[in-house]
Amino acid sequence: MKRQILFVDDDSNLLQGLRRMLRPMRTQWEMAFANSGQEALEMLSRSRFDVIVSDVRMPLMDGVELLTHIQKHYPHMVRILLSGQTSSEKIFDAVGPAHQYLAKPCDAETLKATIERACALGDLLSDDNLKQVVSRVNTMPSCPSLYLQLRDELAQEDASIEAVSHIISRDVGMTAKILKLVNSAFFGLPRHISNPGEAVLYLGLETVKTLVLGVQIFQQLENSACQKFSCDTLLTHSLLVAEYAKKLCQLATGDTRMQEDSFTAGFLHDVGILILATQIPELYQQILSYGETHLGSSFVEAERDILKATHAEIGAYLLGLWGLRNSIVEAVAYHHNPSRNIGQTLCPLVFVHIANVFADEVHNGYPVEGSHSQLDAGYLGRLGLADSVPIWREQLTCVSPVTANPLEAE
Ligand SMILES: [Fe+2]
Ligand SMILES: [Fe+2]
Repeated sequence: MKRQILFVDDDSNLLQGLRRMLRPMRTQWEMAFANSGQEALEMLSRSRFDVIVSDVRMPLMDGVELLTHIQKHYPHMVRILLSGQTSSEKIFDAVGPAHQYLAKPCDAETLKATIERACALGDLLSDDNLKQVVSRVNTMPSCPSLYLQLRDELAQEDASIEAVSHIISRDVGMTAKILKLVNSAFFGLPRHISNPGEAVLYLGLETVKTLVLGVQIFQQLENSACQKFSCDTLLTHSLLVAEYAKKLCQLATGDTRMQEDSFTAGFLHDVGILILATQIPELYQQILSYGETHLGSSFVEAERDILKATHAEIGAYLLGLWGLRNSIVEAVAYHHNPSRNIGQTLCPLVFVHIANVFADEVHNGYPVEGSHSQLDAGYLGRLGLADSVPIWREQLTCVSPVTANPLEAE
């Protein structure tokens, strides 16, 4: 099925250029071009689109206003902003409504790759209602104690960048959001950053202060309607998986970038649970209670039965929409069933999958995620790791748990 893409720019020459540049994509994409926000809205009222790519600066209705409207009325769509010279005020406005930002002029390959990747994400999550739930998420809620610590630190005259990055890197929601921001074209970064501490250093204290205290990019988690959900438990598990994933990667390869990505993917692997518990808490509660009436069924089976998708795919869909690196999105998407991934080489997915099982063994099951996860023996065998896993288990889990409680860790 062809994907429907809508491009919006008030500069007719630029639209003509896009039309020419993207002509080879006609077999895969149905493309429409609008000269203004108003024209785009008229087109949207007549036809369905999957992706919108809009300029920021346009008269009457600018790109940020347009995407804000689309976020509300067409939440299934992927929203991409193309920005030229933009004031920092506009950047901060766009933090919410845009899934991704690209810098103008944007070459054909980057634009194609970004749109194709966004379209491919749709295959990960086929249910339109779930897509809408995820697509509406502007920011992931943060653990209340860490959120208050961060606000207190930033409000101080002598706020320390080390303390700020330490707090942000211990919270799943803040980590995901800061990585989305720092890797957007607005900040013109020459390479991808997947370490939240580095992201804070790059943005600088003043920008982080504006983003947190002014624009309020982070949100404190209100009491979840799901009583069984505990933010502290999720963070403890996430940090343990992150640390195990990094150590496993260190044991298997000297690739330091893969080690860093394994840590971040491990930390974010259950971000989908945060989405379930905060966006659709009633369903999450049902999933947790499923085992009472379906004895022996796992948490993931309950999710498949009730949602037709799992927290893994839901989390990966969000991180993909936010433009995080593919290897991280893949690791999150398939951490419970890595065989579903096409690649059969060492990558963060391998280590996050094993780390998640080891962490469950150490913590005797993970209450937020239900029963024990299982190792995918066939997948590990195909990678030649069958003999290594028991040795790694011995090396990692026989030492005392890495961090008992991230909220107390220094
Ligand atoms: Fe999981
Ligand atoms: Fe997990």
